[in-house]
Amino acid sequence: MPNENQTQARLEARIRELEAKLANPDDSPGHDQYREFFERSADAILIIDDDTFVDCNQATVDMLRYGSKDELLQTHPSELSPEYQPDGRPSFEKANEMIGLAFDKGSHRFEWEHVRSDGIAFPVEVLLTPITRNGRSLVHVAWRDISERKRLEGELRQAQKMEAIGKLTGGIAHDFNNLLVAILGYADLLDMELNGQDELQEFVGQIRLAGDRAATLVRKLLAYSRKQVLKPEVFDLNQTLAELTRMLVPMLGEDIVFTTDLCVEPLFIKADPGQLEQVVVNLASNARDAMPGEGTLTLATRRIQRTDATGNQTTFAAVRMTDSGEGISAEDIEKIFDPFFTTKGLDQGTGLGLSTVHGIIKQSGGDISVCSVPGEETVFEIYLPLTQERPSDRQPGRTRSPRASLTAAETILLVEDEPAVSELIQTVLRQEGFKVHAAGNGREALELVESLDLKPDLLLTDVIMPEMGGPELAKQLEAKMPSLKVLFSSGYTDSALISRGALEEGVELIQKPFIPAVMVDRLRNMLATS
Ligand SMILES: Nc1ncnc2c1ncn2[C@@H]1O[C@H](COP(=O)(O)OP(=O)(O)OP(=O)(O)O)[C@@H](O)[C@H]1O
Ligand SMILES: [Mg+2]
Repeated sequence: MPNENQTQARLEARIRELEAKLANPDDSPGHDQYREFFERSADAILIIDDDTFVDCNQATVDMLRYGSKDELLQTHPSELSPEYQPDGRPSFEKANEMIGLAFDKGSHRFEWEHVRSDGIAFPVEVLLTPITRNGRSLVHVAWRDISERKRLEGELRQAQKMEAIGKLTGGIAHDFNNLLVAILGYADLLDMELNGQDELQEFVGQIRLAGDRAATLVRKLLAYSRKQVLKPEVFDLNQTLAELTRMLVPMLGEDIVFTTDLCVEPLFIKADPGQLEQVVVNLASNARDAMPGEGTLTLATRRIQRTDATGNQTTFAAVRMTDSGEGISAEDIEKIFDPFFTTKGLDQGTGLGLSTVHGIIKQSGGDISVCSVPGEETVFEIYLPLTQERPSDRQPGRTRSPRASLTAAETILLVEDEPAVSELIQTVLRQEGFKVHAAGNGREALELVESLDLKPDLLLTDVIMPEMGGPELAKQLEAKMPSLKVLFSSGYTDSALISRGALEEGVELIQKPFIPAVMVDRLRNMLATS
């Protein structure tokens, strides 16, 4: 049985309810409830009378990072925006126009940039609505932080650019790399033949230089569009950076004070160490160029936790490079990762440094961001996911096995559909003392093996060829000769080949364009290992 007190309390509550209903006969929320809706809105809501703030909710105070509502209401509206909007128009002028439009045409939406009390700008989407209260015309402003949306839009744009350039580069890289094999290879042969004829050798040197530059250009574009051949291995990022810094010091020169602040614990990541070094070198050389007189450069690493969009936590290695150089303007910072964007003179920059960096980091599953205060500093930050794997003792690609005997009488079966490349490789291999049999595609190669009863030690084959490609040929020959060694060569990138199903992962592949001597080294190493 409820006691008397409880009955009394229930009666009182009921009376209050009825009183409230009487005050609001249509059962609509009362003033306090509206106030609560206003305060609890996640969008910022502000009421402006001419150029003074009349009221705002808590979300406005939080977004602008003010200490209290009173503090915010005392500021002048102009203090909440930068002097200029991203479209270059003065904020003051544009704000007046937007308010005028609201009064003329009614409620409307647009994008705006605000500044927080700590000086950081952020983008918002604004909804302006004219209202009248006690005969006065006021503006009701509701806005929403769209930083995340802008970030995603930026990423999408970047990804589309990468995709387009990737398609273009991937398309020409194959033919271009074949041409470069011939150009660089014959230049190499000519160089050897010309032994001693200084003037002509100088000309050949120029051909090689130009060829090398062309090859680098293709490689950089492939890197940008994430179509580069990466050789990922597990390594400690801190150790690699510590070794690399020794190389950076002379590059930076004496006027730059270079400090490192590497965290104590190892940071194991799975990436291509050579490419990662390239990333740091590119960033450091940009920093050096931004500090022509003197300056400081700091390279720091940390282990950090990040939560992704789906709420999963991942541990990352963070690499931060801070320079005290001239900085990057807000206008330029949008474009610095674009290929060929450079503010340097014609012969000083190609504008491919940062696009390469971006491609390598993205292809390694990481992320890169930049922020800069012009005239003060620039900070590049890279995040790379940590791996549970640990380095194996044998570091592939880092150490070269010793050169095998120089006199080789092994037989090489060369299968290559590009005549210029085929002829070049035959010449080089014969000069090196190998026995060479050449075919133009897989089917021809099988016929050759059959008719001459060949027992090659190594098959050097292109991957994609008419009639029968390299992988199918290798499969058929390996069935008959289990000890046959196979080296694929291709002007396509290996990731492209693997994703197209042309190659299985882990096979030996030499990327075109290659220098003949490097190819010979690869062959010898393969033949020397059993
Ligand atoms: N640390 C930095 N400080 C100031 N500006 C920078 C910095 N890093 C990059 N930039 C700006 O970004 C632009 C693009 O850099 P990127 O490395 O892609 O090309 P580049 O250095 O001009 O040429 P390249 O690297 O191909 O020789 C630079 O021209 C420069 O304006
Ligand atoms: Mg650069």
